[in-house]
Amino acid sequence: MATTKYPLRSVLYVPGNNTRALNKVSSLAADAFILDLEDGVGPAGKSEARDNIKNFLKSRPQANYITVRVNALESEWVTDDLDAFLENPPDAIVFPKFESVEEVKAANNLLTKAGYGQDTRLWGMIETPPGVLNSGLIGAVGGRLECLVVGTSDLVKDLHAKHTMTREPILFSLSLVVLVARANGLAVIDGVHLDINDERGLKLSCHQGADMGFDGKTVIHPSQIAAANEAFSPSLKDIAEAEKITAAFEAATKDGKGVVLVDGKLVEALHIENAKRILALAEIIKDKIESQ
Ligand code: COA
Ligand code: MG
Repeated sequence: MATTKYPLRSVLYVPGNNTRALNKVSSLAADAFILDLEDGVGPAGKSEARDNIKNFLKSRPQANYITVRVNALESEWVTDDLDAFLENPPDAIVFPKFESVEEVKAANNLLTKAGYGQDTRLWGMIETPPGVLNSGLIGAVGGRLECLVVGTSDLVKDLHAKHTMTREPILFSLSLVVLVARANGLAVIDGVHLDINDERGLKLSCHQGADMGFDGKTVIHPSQIAAANEAFSPSLKDIAEAEKITAAFEAATKDGKGVVLVDGKLVEALHIENAKRILALAEIIKDKIESQ
C-alpha cells in the first residue's frame, strides 16, 4: 500500500510545455500527476514548460497528488527548475535517473538549500542498470524520500533488451525495486505502457504490476488512467473476502484460537494484516472519489 495518504494507482506524465494537456489535469481521474520538465520536454521548451508549471501550481487541484519531474542533478537546468516552484510547491519533486546514495542525498540537500520545507517530498526514478543495482542503498536513504518510480523505457534501452508483452526482460529489475520499496516503507510505481492503442496489453501490464506489489502505474495518456485505477484498486471480491476473514478471525480470537478455516482456507494473523491493508486502501480510494 502506498505510504502517502493518497492512492497512487495511476500517475500521469504531463509534459510541461503542453498547455492543452496541463489544462486537462483537473478534469482527469488520475490519482497523481508528474508534470514533466525532463524527458517529455526538449531543450528549447524547458523554460516555457517551467513557466507553465509555475502558473499551474498557483491554482492547482487539491484532490490530486501533484509532482514535478525536474531535470537531472548534473544538468544545466536543475537549479532554475527548483527555484521556480518555491512559492507554490508541488507535493513532491521527482528526480530522474537516481544511481547512487550520493545522488539521493544531493537531491535532498538541493531541495533544502533551495528553501523547500520537509513536507515537499522526494520521488526518485530508478531507470538505469546502476540505479537498479544500487536501489537497495538508494531506497534506504530516508529523509524526504517517499516513492520510487521505475522508468522502463530508459531501462529497456540501457539493457539492450526488448519491450515484450509479458516483460520477462525486466521482471528481475521490477521485482527488485518492489522489494526495496517494501523494505523501506516507500511507495513504488511501475513504468509506462508505450502503445496507447493497445488496450489489452495495457490491462495485462497493469494487472501484472499490481500482482507484483506495485502501488500503481505511470501512464502517458488520459485513455490509460481507467485501466490503472481498476487494476490497482481492491476489487469488490477482495474487499468482501477481507471483511469475511477479519470477522472470522476476530471471532476465533475471542475463543482463544490463533487460526481459523474460512471456506476451507487457513487464516492466520498475517492474513489479517493483509486484509486490513486492503480495507485501508479501499477506504482511501473511497475518500478520494468522494472528495472529487
Ligand atoms: N496529460 C494530459 N492530457 C493529455 C495527455 C497527457 N499526458 N496526453 C494527451 N492529453 C489530452 C490532449 O491534450 C487531448 O485533449 P484536448 O483535445 O482537450 O487538448 C486529449 O488528451 C486527447 O489527446 P490525443 O490527441 O489523443 O493525444 P495527443 O496527440 O495530444 O498526445 C502524446 C499524445 C503521446 C504526445 C501525449 O499523450 C503525451 O505527451 N504524453 C506524455 C508523454 C510523456 O510525458 N513522456 C515522458 C515520460 S514517459
Ligand atoms: Mg527516463
